[in-house]
Amino acid sequence: MIALSLAEIAAIVGGQSHDIPDPSAQVTGSVVIDSRRVAPGSLFAAFAGEHVDGHDYARVAYEAGAVAVLAARPVGVPAIVVDDVQGALGALAREVVRRLGTDVVALTGSSGKTSTKDLIAQVLQRHAPTVYTPGSLNNEIGLPLTALTATSETRHLVLEMGARGIGHIRYLTGLTPPRIGLVLNVGTAHIGEFGGREQIAEAKGELVEVLPADGCAVLNADDPLVRAMAPRTKARVLLFGEAEDADVRAENVRLTEAGQPSFRLHTPSGCSDVTLRLYGEHHVSNALAAAAVAHELGMPVDEIALALSEAGTLSRWRMEVTERPDGVTVVNDAYNANPESMRAALRALAAMGKGRRTWAVLGPMAELGDESLAEHDAVGRLAVRLNVSKLVAVGDREASWLQLGAYNEGSWGEESVHVSDAQAAVDLLRSELRPGDVVLVKASRSIGLERVALALLDGGVEGEVAAR
Ligand SMILES: Nc1ncnc2c1ncn2[C@@H]1O[C@H](COP(=O)(O)OP(=O)(O)OP(=O)(O)O)[C@@H](O)[C@H]1O
Ligand SMILES: [Mg+2]
Repeated sequence: MIALSLAEIAAIVGGQSHDIPDPSAQVTGSVVIDSRRVAPGSLFAAFAGEHVDGHDYARVAYEAGAVAVLAARPVGVPAIVVDDVQGALGALAREVVRRLGTDVVALTGSSGKTSTKDLIAQVLQRHAPTVYTPGSLNNEIGLPLTALTATSETRHLVLEMGARGIGHIRYLTGLTPPRIGLVLNVGTAHIGEFGGREQIAEAKGELVEVLPADGCAVLNADDPLVRAMAPRTKARVLLFGEAEDADVRAENVRLTEAGQPSFRLHTPSGCSDVTLRLYGEHHVSNALAAAAVAHELGMPVDEIALALSEAGTLSRWRMEVTERPDGVTVVNDAYNANPESMRAALRALAAMGKGRRTWAVLGPMAELGDESLAEHDAVGRLAVRLNVSKLVAVGDREASWLQLGAYNEGSWGEESVHVSDAQAAVDLLRSELRPGDVVLVKASRSIGLERVALALLDGGVEGEVAAR
């Protein structure tokens, strides 16, 4: 964080100083919520979590070098005490970003936020120092913590914003008001909690409503619910997608034999060819979104295309492709799943697996509410339509829906199998995999199906699935 004295921080967050001998002492390090991450100069923000209460670690943090603790009660070491630690953290982030005057790029959507944020970061970094959300820390705590890592060098601040309900994005944008707001798509992620697609669109669209008139709303031209957000903003609108009228668009999209998308990138300032190092056609949309943001920030098209072509995956378990020494390819996309990303991953598997045996090891997609049965059934059917050699459905009820979809779409019943858990899937694959096979592993986060991919990569036939 930029250096601030404890007195300044207390004023910004409206807190009371307790046990602070020297209010002019400066926080010069990072703001952290995990006492193990404290370094000399840190500010330790104490949160009461489900299992541990940060307040119990106040002394440990102080002894590790924290200048003070941001806390909800006095803790016996220097502390700035506030009613609401989360609100105080947000207020601090808002003030720091305001003082720095850094341009904020915020993005949201149902799927692809982290993948796209990582692309944007890799592209913009060529242009100017960029701070961006690590992993998927996109909520009311992760977002301010990321923003607080910006320094006076930082030119671009790229922030992923997640929403589980109406008002969430509005809250986050209040902390770090964006000048560029990108909406990727409105899918069905968390639809159970939202109530329906229209509600999801309502919630995601809060991002464009807060943009200033000299800002830019970057919207997906191929997603009707995102396109329809245009009238909700005062900002200029930049459309990306494969639609003819998109300002930033892809032409001649194809998947290489390795499953990597290749296309001609068109922007208002020219065209250039791109071949991504990422797997799966769904990344075309993510790459166009990143190109649109970079274009808006003044990067030339050739530089954007080169940066996109060189960008890799920065976050784990998203179409992570590993070749085993015996020629089996493992595609670990177990970070998360929703119907859109399941379809994209299956299409990538089909492209990568041409002439090879392909395995789709799929688990439940969570939070689909009333649409759950139909969506699982449809994914099972798609696996068969794409000629995936075998669907291994892992888990309980939803897995049986996946398998039944495949069974009904297939001819012989051999296209799919249902197993109860990750260990059973690993046992099956270990006995059946042959050199040259391609295995996709994907399910919602809560299932932890990455254990299957990790066990397959671990090699040892005897190895157990690691406990989560
Ligand atoms: N444009 C896209 N359309 C559909 N699926 C996508 C897209 N981009 C990525 N995915 C897939 O969606 C899953 C989640 O990707 P990613 O982590 O980038 O999304 P996210 O929106 O950040 O998710 P979260 O809400 O968990 O933070 C991955 O399995 C990925 O393969
Ligand atoms: Mg994410």
